[in-house]
Amino acid sequence: MGDAETAATKPEPAPEEKKPAGDIPESPYAQDATGEGKKKKKKKDVETAVHLRKVTKRFGAKTAVDEVTLSIPMGSVYGLIGPNGAGKTTTFSMMAGYLHPTEGSVEILGFKPSAVDELRSRLGVLPQDALLPSNDKVGEFLVHMARLQDYPGDKAEELAREALNDVEGKEWWEQRCGSLSHGMAKRVSLAQAFLGAPDVVLLDEPTAGLDPRVAWEMRQLIKLKKGRCTIIISSHNLQELEEICDAAAILDRGRVVASGPMTELTAANEEVRVKVAPGTKRGTQPGQVPIAKLQELAMVRSVDFSDEDREIIVSFERSKADAETVIGHVLWILLHAQVRISGVTKGRGLEQRVMDLT
Ligand SMILES: Nc1ncnc2c1ncn2[C@@H]1O[C@H](COP(=O)(O)OP(=O)(O)OP(=O)(O)O)[C@@H](O)[C@H]1O
Ligand SMILES: [Mg+2]
Repeated sequence: MGDAETAATKPEPAPEEKKPAGDIPESPYAQDATGEGKKKKKKKDVETAVHLRKVTKRFGAKTAVDEVTLSIPMGSVYGLIGPNGAGKTTTFSMMAGYLHPTEGSVEILGFKPSAVDELRSRLGVLPQDALLPSNDKVGEFLVHMARLQDYPGDKAEELAREALNDVEGKEWWEQRCGSLSHGMAKRVSLAQAFLGAPDVVLLDEPTAGLDPRVAWEMRQLIKLKKGRCTIIISSHNLQELEEICDAAAILDRGRVVASGPMTELTAANEEVRVKVAPGTKRGTQPGQVPIAKLQELAMVRSVDFSDEDREIIVSFERSKADAETVIGHVLWILLHAQVRISGVTKGRGLEQRVMDLT
């Protein structure tokens, strides 16, 4: 799922326009100080924000990314998941145009990543180990980044301040980048990635190294941006990705081992898990798990119970009921059997799925 070929229906990128030689191209913003004009640049009507077709990247004998095909829908929050060395950062680098694929093709908003004029201000990037210019003040740096997107001075400063406010960092405006803590620098980089409201934002481990509270705040910020742009995000915090992503691809040793909507990856619409109190056994006595009774439910496909994990796994026919309905029926039976319950989840969770696949 999720990696269907759509390129065949897409128009070919137009040849790059000629720029005046040796000079900064004229700002499309010059005629329109509201920023609206900026968006009038050549745009393509595409439904796929990012399309990778059989992308391979080799470094000498090492294949970092191996025939990856992905189609990331416009407006979605899409996760790139995988263990250390799986190829996530290499994939991001090819999307951002920092690296060229050895084989295959990458398209962002219908353009090659090398189409810098078409993609300027439409693609925001937070690299995994982004280094900020240590002598620049935070404000100067962000204004500079906005100027590179062709915004004139006043507007650039307004956008820079807005972006810094979004990451709760407005008091760092005058502080030198070199004096920021790791977490503060990460937030400034995040501000930079969202600066000027780009259409596609690549976030390579945006919450790594942040304290739990700030990581939570960053997740809220990303959720706030949801729907306004396409976000592609990697993280080793799988609960975080399960919470914020609509869909994801799981990479292992450079290959896509699974991809699709989050509910499918986690089996959230075909499996319910109930954790029970220590010492609970299967059986028909009060306090015991009545497996046969659960199996009698019309939508249930199978019921497994492991004493060791203290977990009942109920698989169900998704055409017959949704998870909430199944939870209702299952808990009704368990409560009547006086089973002591310690938790209920939909699906097996992304963490479990990733463990099974990588
Ligand atoms: N410039 C390079 N030269 C040689 N090998 C590289 C280079 N960049 C990445 N690799 C290799 O490619 C593989 C994928 O690395 P990559 O950084 O993409 O993984 P990742 O999924 O981002 O891992 P992590 O979770 O640790 O960030 C690794 O084996 C890495 O050693
Ligand atoms: Mg990485």
